[in-house]
Amino acid sequence: MSESQEEMKELIIVGARGLGRCVASQVRGDAAHGKDWSLSGFLDSGGQSVLPANCDIPVIGDPMTWVPRENQRFMPAVGNPVEKKKYLQPLIEKGALFTDLRTMVRVGDRANCAFSVVFGMNSEVSTDTTIDEYVYIDNNATIGHDCYVGRYSHIGAKTFVAGGVRIGECVTIHPGVIIGKGLTIGDNAVIGLGSIVMKDVPANAFVLGNPARVVRMLDVGLEAERQTD
Ligand SMILES: CC(C)(COP(=O)(O)OP(=O)(O)OC[C@H]1O[C@@H](n2cnc3c(N)ncnc32)[C@H](O)[C@@H]1OP(=O)(O)O)[C@@H](O)C(=O)NCCC(=O)NCCS
Repeated sequence: MSESQEEMKELIIVGARGLGRCVASQVRGDAAHGKDWSLSGFLDSGGQSVLPANCDIPVIGDPMTWVPRENQRFMPAVGNPVEKKKYLQPLIEKGALFTDLRTMVRVGDRANCAFSVVFGMNSEVSTDTTIDEYVYIDNNATIGHDCYVGRYSHIGAKTFVAGGVRIGECVTIHPGVIIGKGLTIGDNAVIGLGSIVMKDVPANAFVLGNPARVVRMLDVGLEAERQTD
């Protein structure tokens, strides 16, 4: 084996549903990335049947039982944050090493994005903002200055988060949401498509509309409201 082959890492995407396939496509098209990896396939508890028949990337195993190897790097691509936490936790406990995806992302001065954050195209993280582990930020989303986004949270495409906003852990923000400055979004909250949020959102609340109002409180489970693809 040559030196370059020895160094090459296997990239494994966790989740083979819609989001997983979008991330795989972005990984493959990311000519500027220059990473020393090759895409091995997906981990998905649903197996090969979750993929379209003509998809040439295989499901190679189940995230709940997969045993990570040293040369493997994992990329989270499960839309529902609660489900993402469930599928990533066994891998984390077994010492899996994660990696990020940053195609055409603008990151401001002193912004701190954890190494496992996956960005869609053309997203922006402004100055002095922190994005915690296993967060997904979809295409054309903007996170303002001095914000914090908690672990596992999902930020939908074309969302705009103003400065100083704190977003908790496992929050689902559907596409096209606007969040006003300085607000706090509690853990496990869900914000419906296109909502304009002008008040703090309590933990576990499902809010929607303009202005966004609490529709109901959720259990911290795999509710349909959290499903992003
Ligand atoms: C989270 C979501 C699925 C919940 O929708 P829901 O289950 O229909 O919500 P509810 O049943 O509580 O709806 C209550 C009412 O609000 C309406 N409503 C639902 N989502 C709404 C939204 N985002 N904005 C305005 N009104 C909305 C419903 O039509 C319903 O109206 P009605 O009582 O007149 O029939 C929805 O808000 C949403 O965001 N959908 C988009 C998901 C999506 O496309 N994600 C991106 C994937 S890539």
